[in-house]
Amino acid sequence: MTITYFITGANRGIGFELAKQLSADSNNIVFATTRSLANATALKDLNRSNLHIIEYDVASPLETLKKALVEPLEKHAPNGVDVIILNAGISKDAQRSILQTTEADLQEHYAVNAIGPVKVYQSLFPYWSKKVNPETAKKVIFVSSAAGFINNFYPFPTSHYGPSKAALNFVARHIAFDNTSSDLDHIKNSIIVPIHPGLVITDMAKEAIGSLDLEALSIKTITPEESASSIIKLINGLEQKDNDTFISYDGTRYSW
Ligand SMILES: NC(=O)c1ccc[n+]([C@@H]2O[C@H](COP(=O)([O-])OP(=O)(O)OC[C@H]3O[C@@H](n4cnc5c(N)ncnc54)[C@H](OP(=O)(O)O)[C@@H]3O)[C@@H](O)[C@H]2O)c1
Repeated sequence: MTITYFITGANRGIGFELAKQLSADSNNIVFATTRSLANATALKDLNRSNLHIIEYDVASPLETLKKALVEPLEKHAPNGVDVIILNAGISKDAQRSILQTTEADLQEHYAVNAIGPVKVYQSLFPYWSKKVNPETAKKVIFVSSAAGFINNFYPFPTSHYGPSKAALNFVARHIAFDNTSSDLDHIKNSIIVPIHPGLVITDMAKEAIGSLDLEALSIKTITPEESASSIIKLINGLEQKDNDTFISYDGTRYSW
């Protein structure tokens, strides 16, 4: 059974682990993106023939993103893409109040965390919608964050990061809504979910892990390996009823 995955931000952190674990199954075809091939040593060192690395900055213009896909996807994904994992993201110096954040911070975080995934989805749509795969539903996984909760607002400052993830969740919900009126049954029945990957010990989370009272907030940390294996299990188990829901790596269902 061949399932084709496309993962953004896969040269380190959670994205790398997802690419590593998914490409360990030689039946899978995995596209892993990196902003810079020079920084993709860990991916290259995996040296797997079913793992295709693409240089791709999600903040680039849509036409640039489309161009970057043509050669690798036409060559290695004759049946298109089944599962898109929109993982690339940034969080820089985000533990501030809204009064302390800046327009530049907001613009940068929205550009990468919310607008980037829109463009990636648009650039991939022709490949994602290409063909039915009887082995799997078509899926788009948005690696979001509990920091983007509105209803369950987390009591710690996430200034420009939280709002960008809340916007990302809206994008996911809108895609789920758009797809209900698709002429293609496999798109109409596709599964669109934002997920929270846990508080994962990566470069990004170091700031939060070092400064928050995690015990008081009842938050535990997990490794990228644990997060990725839980996310893969979660993705494999997704059903139509999960479409348009917000799920944690451990299967907990959240209200938005
Ligand atoms: N770690 C956590 O506890 C946690 C919690 C909740 C949500 N998340 C979400 O999980 C995702 C992965 O985070 P992580 O912890 O693995 O972070 P990370 O270790 O900092 O890795 C982030 C990845 O995104 C890539 N990236 C950043 N900007 C990009 C751009 N403009 N275009 C393409 N790729 C770009 C990075 O590439 P470079 O190496 O080139 O920078 C890197 O591969 C993010 O969306 C994050 O918001 C993480």
